Amino acid sequence: MCVPARPSVSWTRTTRISRWSRRFPSPGWPVCSWILEVGVSGVFLLGTALILVLFLVVYLTALSPSLLKLIVPHVPLHINNIRVNWTHSAYIQSITNQNYLCNSVMIMEALHRAGAKADRIMMYPDHWHIPKASDSRAVEETQDLQRTEWMLRARDEYKAKLVPIRVLSGTQGDPTWRDSFTKLIAFNQTQYKRLLSLDSDATVMTHMDELFLTPSSPVAMPRAYWLDQSFLSSQVVLLTPSQFDFQRVQALTHQSDSGFDMDILNTLYKDSCIVLPHRPYNALSAEFRFVNHTRYLGSEDEVWNVTNALAEAKYTHSSDCPKRKPWLRASEGEVRSTQPDCGGNEACEERKIWLELYLDFSRRRERICGQKYD
Ligand SMILES: *[C@@H]1O[C@H](CO)[C@@H](O)[C@H](O)[C@H]1NC(C)=O
Ligand SMILES: *[C@@H]1O[C@H](CO)[C@@H](O)[C@H](O)[C@H]1NC(C)=O
Ligand SMILES: *[C@@H]1O[C@H](CO)[C@@H](O)[C@H](O)[C@H]1NC(C)=O
Ligand SMILES: *[C@@H]1O[C@H](CO)[C@@H](O)[C@H](O)[C@H]1NC(C)=O
Repeated sequence: MCVPARPSVSWTRTTRISRWSRRFPSPGWPVCSWILEVGVSGVFLLGTALILVLFLVVYLTALSPSLLKLIVPHVPLHINNIRVNWTHSAYIQSITNQNYLCNSVMIMEALHRAGAKADRIMMYPDHWHIPKASDSRAVEETQDLQRTEWMLRARDEYKAKLVPIRVLSGTQGDPTWRDSFTKLIAFNQTQYKRLLSLDSDATVMTHMDELFLTPSSPVAMPRAYWLDQSFLSSQVVLLTPSQFDFQRVQALTHQSDSGFDMDILNTLYKDSCIVLPHRPYNALSAEFRFVNHTRYLGSEDEVWNVTNALAEAKYTHSSDCPKRKPWLRASEGEVRSTQPDCGGNEACEERKIWLELYLDFSRRRERICGQKYD
């Protein structure tokens, strides 16, 4: 403190340092004497000015991250400013036969329409001949006109990258097995850092580019929330391609008791993977038929709101067993016996939405593949 040992004038109330200083000689400390000269109001003004300048600097740096970088070089920037090289990430579809081909093309169309930034890949059997040019003569020379047209539409209109693969061998017999294992070849696409594998019997409502920013992990999957036991769903798999993981997965496909792709992924990763939230990444179309939504909502406390459930969903899997999949024509009776029962009422929002999901699927199928049903 620069107060003289025995000030003879009271400091309180209106007494001002400047007046006080005139009566007493300066104690000799430069700052003190300066304060004594400019007076309390001067110090106050200067302080206010300094605070204003500080605010201005903070405001400007908030506006300009590069300015912030100059001042504080190692501050991590806001997530929106992270530069993502999208060529390292891709959505991936595996096609083993023609039945599911149009579904995959529809997924490619939806991602293209949604403006997905990451690449889109379609893995297809390497014995399919896909012409480089899409002129009619080249197309006509292929074995299967329709198949070729669909593949070319995905490549040329929806900007999908076509990657030929050898359909996983060692899985004799049941084609469903072969189909489900082929999805796992995604681990072998090491030209990418992150892949999002989506089952094709589904509706993509919007892109899911943000998933490619998930912290690194061999696998990230949502829970199969509709099941009694804790199990991860392979309908949506975010994976990091690597030779190591591909070999682990492949080793299990050669064992007869390892089950389907979903079982293999659970065996290997259930205790170590990142769990993606099934809201919004993996809803079932059947959720709109269910009476009890506790599993989907994750608690008994939240109130089911069908409008919100539809709005939040980014990917809805078509699962309405025993109703047929949406690309197969279902009889009116089949639809009536499966549709949401509206709690006995004549109509409800759930039924409207559920029917619209199926109608939308067949309208898109007609537009993209030229036919509503197989
Ligand atoms: C993105 O990555 C690719 C492949 O590694 C590279 O060729 C390309 O220059 C990168 N693009 C940018 C903008 O960094
Ligand atoms: C995995 O990728 C490599 C390199 O592209 C390829 O040579 C190999 O045949 C692929 N393996 C399988 C089982 O697809
Ligand atoms: C709804 O499902 C949950 C989870 O399966 C169960 O605990 C709960 O009792 C069910 N509620 C009703 C009203 O049936
Ligand atoms: C569902 O939520 C929407 C908006 O979030 C609201 O307008 C609507 O009233 C809600 N519906 C019900 C049945 O509470």
